[in-house]
Amino acid sequence: MSISSSKMPEKTINGAIFIFKHTIVTRIMHGLHLISMVMLILTGFYIYSPTVFRIFPSMDSARYVHFIFMYIIGWTMIYKIYYSIVSGEIKELVFRWRDLLELPNLFKYYLYGIFTGAPKKDYGKYNPGQRMIYSLWPILLLIQGITGIAMYFTARWAQFNNIFGGLQNIKFIHFILCWIFAITVIAHIYLGSTGPKIMDFYKSVITGWEKHVAKKSS
Ligand code: HEM
Ligand code: HEM
Repeated sequence: MSISSSKMPEKTINGAIFIFKHTIVTRIMHGLHLISMVMLILTGFYIYSPTVFRIFPSMDSARYVHFIFMYIIGWTMIYKIYYSIVSGEIKELVFRWRDLLELPNLFKYYLYGIFTGAPKKDYGKYNPGQRMIYSLWPILLLIQGITGIAMYFTARWAQFNNIFGGLQNIKFIHFILCWIFAITVIAHIYLGSTGPKIMDFYKSVITGWEKHVAKKSS
């Protein structure tokens, strides 16, 4: 999660270099995605099993909240894709086939190297693992949207549901994807703690400025 591009604004405070990484639009979109995803996962688990996940007062309220955040994440995701294309940020976010080759090294670093003080490779704005997840999420969300609509309009979507073996299977796909979101979001939260200090990357996605340890001049 380091930046090699010198085009981004920099400032130095008390010997630490801060690089401007996330624009205001990116930060607002991120905040909305974060809240929406947490709420969709929580309400989703309640809808799946209201007796086990007793976190909402009733099914009606959980469904209501699920639908509100589904609209928020859906429309903001569309806007985010449009914004990324127009601003050119898409180049930094999208997964490239050559990133596949880097994944073993990246996993090795995050599972082992990071604990032994191995140097962190500079991949540019986002590393191949981030690119993979950031490209995967909109695709998974599209599938969640389609399976969600199919669950809602059961009569109109009966033919579609039957192609996948019935409504039960559609619910199953929606539920498994919910878990994939939950696991990848937890990994994303953990990786956010791997900056120079635990809070540095979290602060960056709120303030826009990412802290870097200044290299000692030899
Ligand atoms: C983005 C568009 C989405 C739409 C249109 C959508 C729609 C729906 C609908 C209509 C239901 C059924 C409600 C009911 O039976 O009362 C549902 C259930 C559920 N949703 Fe979503 N949802 C979306 C996103 C998500 C996301 C992002 C997650 C989690 C990451 C999620 C997790 C769940 C779960 C776990 C259930 C319960 C499934 C079951 O009963 O087997 N949904 N959703
Ligand atoms: C509690 C949940 C979350 C936390 C704590 C969190 C934290 C972070 C942090 C620290 C970064 C900066 C990483 C860097 O600059 O290298 C980041 C970036 C990013 N996060 Fe999250 N995140 C969360 C949830 C989400 C969700 C739900 C999504 C999308 C569905 C998401 C999508 C992104 C994307 C695409 C970026 C790259 C910057 C951008 O273009 O928005 N995050 N996140």
